[in-house]
Amino acid sequence: MKEATVQFYDELPDNADLRAEVLQGLGTHPRRLSPKFFYDRRGSELFDAICRVPEYYITRTETAILQNNAAALARLAGTRTVLIELGSGASQKVRLMLDVLRPYAYVGVDISKDFLLQSTRRLAAAYPWLKVHAVCADFCQPLSLTCCPPQFKRVAFFPGSSIGNFEPQHAVLFMRQLQSVLGPTGALVIGVDLKKDPHHLNAAYNDAQGVTAEFNLNILRRMQRELGAQVDIRGFRHEAFYNEAHGRIEMHLVSQRTQQIRIDNEAFHFEKNERMHTENSYKYTIEEFQALARDAGYQPHTVWTDEKRLFSVHYLQVENRD
Ligand code: AVJ
Repeated sequence: MKEATVQFYDELPDNADLRAEVLQGLGTHPRRLSPKFFYDRRGSELFDAICRVPEYYITRTETAILQNNAAALARLAGTRTVLIELGSGASQKVRLMLDVLRPYAYVGVDISKDFLLQSTRRLAAAYPWLKVHAVCADFCQPLSLTCCPPQFKRVAFFPGSSIGNFEPQHAVLFMRQLQSVLGPTGALVIGVDLKKDPHHLNAAYNDAQGVTAEFNLNILRRMQRELGAQVDIRGFRHEAFYNEAHGRIEMHLVSQRTQQIRIDNEAFHFEKNERMHTENSYKYTIEEFQALARDAGYQPHTVWTDEKRLFSVHYLQVENRD
């Protein structure tokens, strides 16, 4: 096999962010940690495992939608594109798009450096005709993609309903900011989980094998490994539930007893049942999400869904204002 080459750009500072943000999040009430901290190497692997548990319908449903509509998607996107994947993770789903789209270049953006390098190297080996770029970055921060010639249409792929991690008003800001990367002719292909029977949602975030629980608790393991935190991981329990009033799944870590987490010289005291909020995962109806997209300056063009209406994939065009 040809030696796979990946252009690598590291835009992620270091652990300074992690330390400062964790200390800040533990110091406020209610306590909260950003879900972006789930994704160290182990967390990315655990997320990959979540994608394969039977209760987590999201990944396989989105994959089927992409499989069924890849040709239509490629027709919309056209030729001479640069495909930018946000939160590229294992870079599996994007293969369905690469096969039909045959873009000039692929740019994978992910916060998990080792994982990103490994995935993009595999991708480069499997697609020898493709220019592969890997950008290690927190895509919540403004992205500067200097790597791609401007004559190509930029198509962003934001799969998996990761947009659900943003508060809706922040999702609007994020998508608006993304337009500076996409330019006036760009498009966004985005996967959005749909509102549905709460039982179905609750099951997806409380899998019987406990993989989601491990994923949630891994944020504490990461604090031990990278920040030298003193914390008894068995003293906390995974909790996930659908909050119908807010239209979101919430994940928390709940203290099982009175205890402390120590980082550096600081001690954070937890009462029994006191929690840390680790993730929101907003669910939308198709109409709600299209309204959000319009707010963010996109023209909803096509939306694909599955027979059971579990999940949606939207093709949004940057609104050309002239
Ligand atoms: C990667 C944010 C889309 O919210 O479903 C999976 C993360 N959390 N199980 C989601 C997650 C718990 C996932 N996203």
